Amino acid sequence: MTLNVDAGGRWIDPDRVESCIQALSQYGAHGETGVARLVYSPEWVAAQDQVAGWMEEAGLRVERDAVGNVWGYLDGQHRERPTVATGSHIDSQNPGGRFDGALGVVAGIAAVAALRERHGQPQQTIGVVSLVEEEASRFPTANFWGSRAIVGRIAPEEPRRMRGYDSVTMAEAMRDVGLDPALIEEARRDDIETFIELHIEQGPHLEQEDIPVGIVDRITGYRQYLVMLEGAANHAGTTPMDLRRDAMAGAAEIISGVINTAHRMGRPCVTTVGRVNVSPNERAVIPRQVAFTVDARSPDPAQRELLLARHEALIAEVAQRRDLSVNLRVDSDRPPVACDPDVVAAITAAAAEGGVPAITMTSGAVHDTMQFAEIAKIAMIFVRSRGGISHSPEEFTSAADAAAGTEVLARTLHTLAYRR
Ligand code: GLV
Ligand code: MN
Ligand code: MN
Repeated sequence: MTLNVDAGGRWIDPDRVESCIQALSQYGAHGETGVARLVYSPEWVAAQDQVAGWMEEAGLRVERDAVGNVWGYLDGQHRERPTVATGSHIDSQNPGGRFDGALGVVAGIAAVAALRERHGQPQQTIGVVSLVEEEASRFPTANFWGSRAIVGRIAPEEPRRMRGYDSVTMAEAMRDVGLDPALIEEARRDDIETFIELHIEQGPHLEQEDIPVGIVDRITGYRQYLVMLEGAANHAGTTPMDLRRDAMAGAAEIISGVINTAHRMGRPCVTTVGRVNVSPNERAVIPRQVAFTVDARSPDPAQRELLLARHEALIAEVAQRRDLSVNLRVDSDRPPVACDPDVVAAITAAAAEGGVPAITMTSGAVHDTMQFAEIAKIAMIFVRSRGGISHSPEEFTSAADAAAGTEVLARTLHTLAYRR
């Protein structure tokens, strides 16, 4: 199913959105279709400059904040009224695809450019933000760095303490691109009324339903752990099984246990072990240490708590029985977030008005929008992902679907920012 209005009735030109997506994907291009654009890297800096350039071309007033978020404003007639904001992030997984995050930034600029061209100055200021960081692909605990700065949820010691996979601290990485970590607090905002993020779905539902656009009414809750199990390294041939303190045996049991727990609890619970480090990582040596990540999610608050409690109980029980020491570090933790019913209704009406087929759905991915829920009314617009694939260079959304979502975004911003 595709957009249902004739060309004359559309506000958004699909080519405009598509060409910007293709252009942005060249910054940190990875292979044929992938992108590896880690926060504060040279390719990230160039991409953020490109975004600022597009904002200027679209007639927006551009500002950069203390963490490097780029804001483009279409100022309203009533500057004293709060801002209606949209946007997403431009960092990627390592490697990821062209659309995760990037599409929300490009769509925001295209939507506001179209509004300016068709409708002139809004009543309320509209802000488009290109957020610095969402994926935690350079710094394992940085998730939502840009949006956390905006809502004031970065602890003072984080930039110093946080170390990336490349061993560089967040504070050093910020200084490398000319930002002062001591000024992070200045990025904080209290003037945002509504935040709407357009994003690819990253899952299979819209494709299965043959619908281009989803309207998100709830975003999943999650917790990400780093589990560090420590036993004793010893000879793989001479140490009897009953005398081992084998960190791998514990890890294997826990890994299959947490995955099976999510299976048994059923949809929409999900648990993933995506990263494992073994030490010493030798064929003939019993592993002394295994460190692995556990990412567990459910959009249902009670179910999330139950899932996490079961995971934590299993980790403790296996470690104790196998005489392993365990260190459980929580890297990220957010309860589920409900979207604002009035904003969801505005998006629903905008989709109907634009002739864009849309369904209401839950987001299984986490998003910057969850952070904005601290200070603003929030909702999200999803567009169909081919094959439900994301966090991969295979990620793809058609130009028509991207434009359909952008059409809904533009019409929603019109409803919210142009009313008297
Ligand atoms: C966001 O990238 C997520 O992991 O859901
Ligand atoms: Mn994303
Ligand atoms: Mn992502």
